[in-house]
Amino acid sequence: MISQQIQTAAYLFAGILFILSLGGLSSQESAKKGVFYGMIGMIIAIVSTVLGEGVDGYIYIIVAIAIASVIGIIVARKVEMTSMPQLVAILHSFVGLAAVLVGFGSYLDPHTQEITGSEHTIHLIEIFIGVFIGAVTFTGSIIAWGKLDGKIPSKPLAYKGRHIVNIVLVLIAIYMGVLFAGAEGTEGMLYLYVMTGIASFIGVMLVMAIGGADMPVVVSMLNSYSGWAAAAAGFMLGNDLLIITGALVGSSGAILSIIMCEAMNRSFLSVIFGGFGDVPVGDAKKPEGEVTSTDHEEVAEMLAEAKSVLIVPGYGMAVAKAQYPVHDLVKSLQKEGKKVTFGIHPVAGRLPGHMNVLLAEANVSYDIVLEMEEVNDEMAETDIVLVIGANDIVNPGALEDEASPIYGMPIIEVWNAEKVIVMKRSMAVGYAGVQNPLFYKENTDMLYGDAKDSVDKINSFLRK
Ligand code: TAP
Repeated sequence: MISQQIQTAAYLFAGILFILSLGGLSSQESAKKGVFYGMIGMIIAIVSTVLGEGVDGYIYIIVAIAIASVIGIIVARKVEMTSMPQLVAILHSFVGLAAVLVGFGSYLDPHTQEITGSEHTIHLIEIFIGVFIGAVTFTGSIIAWGKLDGKIPSKPLAYKGRHIVNIVLVLIAIYMGVLFAGAEGTEGMLYLYVMTGIASFIGVMLVMAIGGADMPVVVSMLNSYSGWAAAAAGFMLGNDLLIITGALVGSSGAILSIIMCEAMNRSFLSVIFGGFGDVPVGDAKKPEGEVTSTDHEEVAEMLAEAKSVLIVPGYGMAVAKAQYPVHDLVKSLQKEGKKVTFGIHPVAGRLPGHMNVLLAEANVSYDIVLEMEEVNDEMAETDIVLVIGANDIVNPGALEDEASPIYGMPIIEVWNAEKVIVMKRSMAVGYAGVQNPLFYKENTDMLYGDAKDSVDKINSFLRK
């Protein structure tokens, strides 16, 4: 057992470590250190909470931590890099569920019933808001998991008047809150249940209404909601560290959502309120022209001739695990004195920073990994672009076709280079479900096949 003062000091130290952790995660060079700070902070947080005053039943806590740790280790070891987004989404749902359960538990706790006056009312408001945010996060994250996993179609489910329905539901929830605050003893449980049902439905509808291409913002937004749910649980439990940590996650998730929205040219409010108004939804134009394809030997010859090569990776590179042969390709081109760069779209793949993580995993030097704006500026001077398993992020329809669901999203304008090679297995659409006119452009050739196989074959021709 530790004293209140020691616990406060430990919480402060853990809070500082969490801030250092977030700071570390902001760049690839310091990310490992950031994760390490986070782990130490979390150990200090758990130990100082468990050893704090008023905590008993250690055996239950140890058994719960042991079971959860084993599950966590197995899941984290087994999960494929391509399934990380789903894992993140489902973990967000756990935070939401935890906030709901903490809220129920806190309301039924006999200590809550002993508090009186304004303190009691404030505590009830904390519980009510905490459960509301938790339930929205819980069901919203489950739908996000389903959409990211392909179990639920990525097309937005938007019915007329849904915003009115949502507003009416929120008003009913507020009314439930008034009844809840005025209820005697634990009689308010019924109102709490009704509100939980309403909030769960709102969570489902908010995420169902968001289309495939806008999912990156939903992921970061649910990340933010999960932070606020944790902060709300902190208020309910009177735990300062949980409030600090929740607020850190909530605000960093909100900042990330705003950055994502800017990167995708979407209105933040439109995404938070489930596709509010300004996102065009329609059938994109059918691309016109002829699709031409090439083979590995020809691509190797073109690369041998080129002076500057840009590589644009997408989700398919993650699926194929092509980052390692891609790095070999880069090394052999650089050895020949060619300029090789990577162009990273902010929403390439399925997670913020997905491509950067893959390239770092394969030890690609950070200084040749450039952002979308930088490579777009230099596109006209680029001899050849290798689009490796990318689709939506290089779709010219985003600039030209107002009926396209991705209209308005900035993209990597690869067709402004002299030659474009698109490596993918077929003519299939990307995550947003729209055809890509890039494949029909005169200076584009398709190189069909698994991205890893294709790059391996090109590498072997280059070595000859
Ligand atoms: P996508 O548009 O999803 O296209 C990926 C392409 O990779 C597919 O068209 C697929 O075509 C190809 N592919 C799959 N497996 C392959 C393999 N083994 N070898 C070669 N190619 C393969 O990916 P993108 O261009 O990276 O765009 C990302 C999309 O996901 C955007 O719409 C974005 O909004 C959305 N999204 C992003 C995030 C974040 S945060 N990044 C989160 C959720 C959703 P084939 O089947 O023909 O091979």
